[in-house]
This record gives sequence, structure tokens and C-alpha cells, in this order.
Amino acid sequence: MTAFTDETRARAREIIARYPADRSRSALLPLLHLVQAEEGYVSPAGVAFCAEVLGLNKAQVGAVASFYTMYKRRPTGDWLVSVCTNTMCDVLGGQKVYDTLAEHLGVGHDETTADGKITLEHAECLAACDYGPVMTVNYDYFDGVDPQTAVDLVDELRAGGRPTPSRGARLCTLKEMSIQLAGFADEREGAVADGVPGEPTLRGLRLAQQHGISAPGFDPNAPIRSGQAGDKPAPATPAKAAPTGSTAPDVPAPDRKSPQVRTAETRQPDAKTAVPDAPGTRVPTGGTPPTPRDAQAAEAAGAAANKPAGDAKPAGDDAEAQKRNLSEAESTAIGSANDKGAKK
Ligand code: FES
Repeated sequence: MTAFTDETRARAREIIARYPADRSRSALLPLLHLVQAEEGYVSPAGVAFCAEVLGLNKAQVGAVASFYTMYKRRPTGDWLVSVCTNTMCDVLGGQKVYDTLAEHLGVGHDETTADGKITLEHAECLAACDYGPVMTVNYDYFDGVDPQTAVDLVDELRAGGRPTPSRGARLCTLKEMSIQLAGFADEREGAVADGVPGEPTLRGLRLAQQHGISAPGFDPNAPIRSGQAGDKPAPATPAKAAPTGSTAPDVPAPDRKSPQVRTAETRQPDAKTAVPDAPGTRVPTGGTPPTPRDAQAAEAAGAAANKPAGDAKPAGDDAEAQKRNLSEAESTAIGSANDKGAKK
């Protein structure tokens, strides 16, 4: 096993302590970011480390690590360049940006340049369609790029520069970013920018205001309701009259039923003939909220379905086992570090 640093081990303990003792397997996602921060990817040793400290088995950790694209399974460059080639960006030239970068860098999807600096990847929608075509570097945005600006950007990165993203925080390496994704603050002074919505984001709002269009019955000051039946709907605000000549479409009156009532009606249109739900999974009808007993039954059913794996390791919710595993992992790592030192 890789001898993860004392700092990483202390951070692992800090992450695990954020969760209730019997729910510590929830710490797996930040822990995977943590090991990625040390090694630059989630290595087999990183998987083993997470498994040990959480009392899981490696298959359970590997299943999670291989599901999410943000966990890299092989060595990744300092700069992860993601180019959106999804529909909106594509029609604005995203694919051309990607193809140009691939040719310029001599790598394809999920490949890293020979100098180990840049990993290129296709990305699906990066949630910035109004700024397309967009690319991100370690998840920081560069808006409205074209093939030339994209090439200039990667050249600057390879030359040691840290270009300023279009929005948000200052650029940092993938390892530095992984520390933040593990839930630790960016300590660099002034690193976090507040930012305001940009003009493309506000464009729809401005057009609506200009044409007197508003959502019928929408009151921005209405308090957020719990969705329980019996709640009174927020008072309707009459839609602003569209000026003459407006093409505002007729919009049907909103359905004011609470979401819970609507869901129950959809599932059980005829309550008399409906088959009763399993204990703990009852959908309340008529707006009756679930009782604590419902919640307990659902939790017990979930725990029963979540049995430990067949390798005799606990499934991960045993606080004592986790403590034991963490200290074993640490002494193993210290032992192997001493062995290495003795061999030198
Ligand atoms: S399609 Fe590219 S950000 Fe949405």
C-alpha cells in the first residue's frame, strides 16, 4: 500500500468525523477526492486505503470510484482540460475546439500529453450552455472559446502560466482542486471569487421584462412551503398584461396541489382498489405525512437489504471496526515505510 502522508491520514480522520459513526461510509466520496489529491488519481492503493479506513471491501470502493468520471483511474495531468461537445456547444463550434486541441496536443479523449501536464477529455454538458462553446480547466470555466483561444490557453498552461478563468475562483492544479472537492477550503488569499450572473445568463430575464412576460401566479416573495396537503396556496399574482403586439403564449393555470398529493394520486388513482405498499414505503394519501414508524420501518428494510459483503469485512457502519482498520492501515504503512528506509 502507498504510504499516504500523515497529513492525508489526519484529513481522512477529519472527513470521517464529519459523519455520524454509523453512517461513515458516506465519507467515501470526499475520501476518494482526498486520495486523488495525493496521487493525482485514484490508484489501487488509494482504493485500498479508502476501503481500510471505512471498513469496506475494495470492490465496494472500486464500484463507486469507477462510476463517477471525476475520479480518475490512471495518472492524470496537472491540468484536466474538458471541452464540452454536447449539443449546444457543438452547434457553436465545441467539436471543432476539441478536434483542434486533440491534434495540437497529440492526444485523444482521456489521454495525457507526454510531459504529463495536460489531460484532454470530451465533456457532456458542463452546465454553462449560455456561454458556449465552453471548456473547463480543473472544473474552472473558460467561456466562449474558439480553436485559437483554446490552443493559446493550453500553451500557456504548458509554459507554467495560470490563466484567469472567465468566472469563479483562481485556477489551481488537479491535486489542489481535489483537496477542495474533499471539503477543505482554498487557503490562497483572494482565491474565491464571488462573481455575479453574466449577461448571457440574464438575457432571458431581460427579454421577459422587456415584453412584460411573467409566470402566471408566480410571487417571488412567497415563502417556500413544505408541500403538505392543507397548506394554503400562495396568493395568485396576476400576470402582467403583455403589451399590444406581444406574442406571449397562453399558459394554462398552474396546478396548485401539493407535490405529495399529486404523486399519491398518480400512484393510486383509485384508493379502494390500490394494493397496499410494503411497510415503510407507504406514500401518504390525502396529505398524511409519514410517521416516525414509517421512517423506522424504511430504515430497517434498507439496513436488512444492505448486508456485509461475503469477504467477512463489515459493510462499513461499524465505528469500532473502522477505528481498528484505520490504525491497522497506519501501522502497516509505517511498517512498510520503515522497511523501505532499512533497505536503503
Ligand atoms: S452544451 Fe455545453 S455547456 Fe451545455
